[in-house]
Amino acid sequence: MILTKFLFILLTRINKLLEVWIMFMKKLIEAPLALTFRDVVILPGRSPVDPEEVNVATQVTKNYRLNIPLVSSPMDTVTGAEMAIVMAKMGGLGVLHRNCSIEEQIKMAKLVKEADVHVKAIPNITAKDSIKEALNVMNRYKINIVPITDEEGSLVGVITKINALLRNQEEPIYRAMRGDYPYVKTGTRIEYVINVMAEKALTEIPVVDNDGRLVGIITAEEIALRNKFRDAALDKDGRLLCAAAISPFDEKRALELDKVVDILVLDVAHFHNDKCIAAMKKLEKKLSADIVIGNIGTKEAVKDILSNLEKVDGFRVGIGSGSICTTAEVTGALAPTLFAVAQVADALIEENAKVPVIADGGIRVPGDAAKAFAVGASAIMLGYVLAGCDESPSPIVEISGIKFKYYRGMASKAAKAKRYAADRYSRVVKDIEEGIEALVRYRGSAVKVISEFISGLKAAMGYAGARSVKEMWYKAKLALISPLGAQERAPHSVIPLSELKSMFTEHLKM
Ligand code: XMP
Repeated sequence: MILTKFLFILLTRINKLLEVWIMFMKKLIEAPLALTFRDVVILPGRSPVDPEEVNVATQVTKNYRLNIPLVSSPMDTVTGAEMAIVMAKMGGLGVLHRNCSIEEQIKMAKLVKEADVHVKAIPNITAKDSIKEALNVMNRYKINIVPITDEEGSLVGVITKINALLRNQEEPIYRAMRGDYPYVKTGTRIEYVINVMAEKALTEIPVVDNDGRLVGIITAEEIALRNKFRDAALDKDGRLLCAAAISPFDEKRALELDKVVDILVLDVAHFHNDKCIAAMKKLEKKLSADIVIGNIGTKEAVKDILSNLEKVDGFRVGIGSGSICTTAEVTGALAPTLFAVAQVADALIEENAKVPVIADGGIRVPGDAAKAFAVGASAIMLGYVLAGCDESPSPIVEISGIKFKYYRGMASKAAKAKRYAADRYSRVVKDIEEGIEALVRYRGSAVKVISEFISGLKAAMGYAGARSVKEMWYKAKLALISPLGAQERAPHSVIPLSELKSMFTEHLKM
């Protein structure tokens, strides 16, 4: 009797142990393959269109459509007012970063909403400032005149580059200022502005509002680009579309920005968290702008969020794949953007919810964006690609004659030191860094970088045989690539001329 009881207890124990062992082994055996961009290629498909006929317009949130499917990341070395303006002018969307005071973020948002498609906003300079400051603005904005204002911002004159260069640069501007320079009012028909500029041979002309206050300048260069700006992303009143990053725990910021911008983008590294959802549940009722929830990376996140929140107009998807991220390295947690988008897009189909997905993190080339579309994304968020542009709010760093721009993760020590966006990452463990500071190659104007990206994207979509982003969801086919196959993806077996050039330069130096 005792022996039977003993045997029974022993067997029960062994069984329990086996169950646990199986549970643990199952985790490994059934672990899904979390594929990333470079694991797959797009299989060329039968194509009914030429790349230039591909239409890249897309839904970025439930209520807003973009003419190009690109969104700039809310990072303090990527998106300030200047980047948000150029993104919207090109037909995409800028998400203003929140690593600043509420007032500063509102100021940036107002600059975007008040910007004119053709007008370049520049900082106000007064006649008391030095000529050197005017020259700095000319160099920074690549312009040949700087409008001068009084303390109230009213236009009082202009300093030209020639006048500035011919004077002592320490002198105040009023010594070299011209008071008779032509200007136009906001809302003037662009054809009229072009006539005035052509007649008077002006490369730039100041623009003032009805009260004579400086709004910015129209440049011949921007006019030449106006074909590129014909697809600008506009709100119902014809103003540039603008988004801003918020936190579910900063109600004041969210409410203030809600009055100015069109779209609010949640800026939390891991939104699938009970506290985030609970805070958002309270906040969402008070907001009228479209709300993009993120970041998330799993099916379960979609289901939990949709069953708890009423206002979900978009999802920001991908955790830890960003070029400056160390989240995976530090925490072991990662939802690679490609895998995460596929998970989220499938969950949305299962839930029968039409919520656009923005793929975020690790997108370096147009082909990555095309792959994200192939697994259900509607738009692409870019950090690294835009960080090297003139319009990003970070300094140019020159090393041995080569130009770079400073780019940092929002969980890097330096970004967190500003405190404002520190709650993007773990609210408790604030001393852990999940990002790095870095340099990226300087790439010139965002107009050029975005245009090239879109051309590459259209070519990729052409290979996939899709004429629109939506067709990419259904038509694009992906294949896994072997390590050997990966070698064929880039130039191989030859010595690129660029390498030869640097080899010879080294040789000549010796
Ligand atoms: P890319 O690859 O475009 O990625 O440079 C930009 C995205 O990376 C995220 N991000 C971070 N992720 N630590 C992280 O783990 C960070 O410090 C960090 N900063 C930004 C963010 O989603 C961004 O859009």
